Amino acid sequence: MHFHKRKFFVFTVILSVLTIGIISFTIPTQPKLRNLKVLPQNISHDSLEHIMDGFKAALGVKCSFCHVPSKTQPGRMDPASDENPKKDIARAMMRMTMEINEKYVGQIPHADSVQIQMVTCATCHRGKSKPELQ
Ligand code: HEC
Ligand code: HEC
Repeated sequence: MHFHKRKFFVFTVILSVLTIGIISFTIPTQPKLRNLKVLPQNISHDSLEHIMDGFKAALGVKCSFCHVPSKTQPGRMDPASDENPKKDIARAMMRMTMEINEKYVGQIPHADSVQIQMVTCATCHRGKSKPELQ
C-alpha cells in the first residue's frame, strides 16, 4: 500500500513537470510567423511590422500590393501566402538591397564617428512602386 502511494506520487510529479513543459512550449509568446525566407525566423512582431510599414511607405502602396486576401477569413489578409508575385519580387529586392549595403556601401572607408547612409527601398523607389527618373 505504502509502496503504491509513493509510486503514484512520483508519477504525478513526472506528469505535472511534463505538462508544464508542454504548455510552455506550445503557448506562443507572439503570433507564429510561418513563411520567412529572407528575414530571420525569430524576428519580433514589432520589427516585422516596422519593416512592412517601411515597404508600404517606400513604395507608396498598401499591404495588399504584395499580400493576397485570406481565403478563409473574409476581410483579412494572408501574409504567409506567396500567391502574389510581387512578394517574391520584394524578396529579390530585399536580397539586392542587403548585398548593395554589405558589399559596396558598407565598404566605403569612413571616420569612426561618421554614420554611412545605407541604401534602402526608398533610395530608389521614392514613394513609387516602380522607380521613376526625377
Ligand atoms: C513590397 C511588398 C510588401 C508590402 C507592401 C508588404 N509586405 Fe509583408 N511581406 C513581404 C515579403 C517579401 C514578406 C516575406 C519576407 C521573407 O520571406 O523573409 C512579407 C511578410 C509579411 C508577414 C509575415 C507572414 C508570414 O507568416 O510568413 C506579415 C505578417 C506581413 N508581411 C504583413 C504585412 C503588412 C501588415 C503590410 C502592410 C503594412 C505588409 N506586409 C506590406 C512583402 C510586403
Ligand atoms: C537600386 C534601386 C532599388 C532598390 C534599392 C530597391 N528597388 Fe525595388 N525596384 C527597382 C527597379 C528598377 C524596379 C523595376 C521597376 C519596373 O519594373 O519598371 C523595382 C521593382 C520593384 C517591385 C515590383 C514593382 C511592380 O510594380 O511590379 C517591388 C515590389 C519592389 N521593387 C520592392 C522593393 C523593396 C521592398 C525594396 C527594399 C527592400 C526595393 N524594391 C529596393 C529598384 C530598386
